[in-house]
Amino acid sequence: MTTRPLRIAPSILSADFSRLGDEVAAIDAAGADWVHLDVMDGDFVPNITFGPPVIRDLRSRSSKCFDAHLMISTPDPYINDFKSAGAEIITVHAEVTKHLDRSLAAIRDAGVKAGVALNPHTPVDGIAHVLDRLDLILLMTVNPGFGGQKFIDAVVPKIAVVKAMVGDRDIDIEVDGGITVETAPKVVAAGANVLVAGSAVFGDRNPDHYAENIAAIRAAALSAQS
Ligand code: DX5
Ligand code: ZN
Repeated sequence: MTTRPLRIAPSILSADFSRLGDEVAAIDAAGADWVHLDVMDGDFVPNITFGPPVIRDLRSRSSKCFDAHLMISTPDPYINDFKSAGAEIITVHAEVTKHLDRSLAAIRDAGVKAGVALNPHTPVDGIAHVLDRLDLILLMTVNPGFGGQKFIDAVVPKIAVVKAMVGDRDIDIEVDGGITVETAPKVVAAGANVLVAGSAVFGDRNPDHYAENIAAIRAAALSAQS
């Protein structure tokens, strides 16, 4: 099987929201490959963050790929708003979409890449028949809603199952939650190639440290990439 390029995607959920534009510019300069945008609605997850207007204003602060992770109960009506705001990948949760095939087709019809996210407990079977609609599969390695949670080891074998299911298709496998220099090698060895990291990148929120934090995760991940 082919080895896909490794991408480090800092999650701005752990950034200082009072200076969010500067934080996005800082991770861009520090070597982030993608900018991970955690959108929460207070319904699907017990937390509320931001939506398209904030993403639109952040767009000018980085040319890196804007990776929108929608933790919202009704994503379909907002797909075009996220696209217009500048999202280049839109990921919806399999647990909320009544018609996953239709939602993924709508995302691609909008001209952006389509992703599906699975919570730690969600079986992978539900995505077996939409692989040709997908550009990205996001496996949650914590329960969604908050940064800084402990990595759930039980998801590691699931990554390997998804990797085998994907085969040589042009699909990224992203992991999200509890990614650190300690857990990065495990997820990469299992087949993940996009690593979301919030607290491990933003840490003490000192922009002078972001480059070394990203580099450390990247080095740990590359050490495990076959
Ligand atoms: C959780 C979010 C994650 C989160 C990761 O619901 O989807 O992107 O920000 O944060 P860390 O890396 O701190 O676990
Ligand atoms: Zn996320």
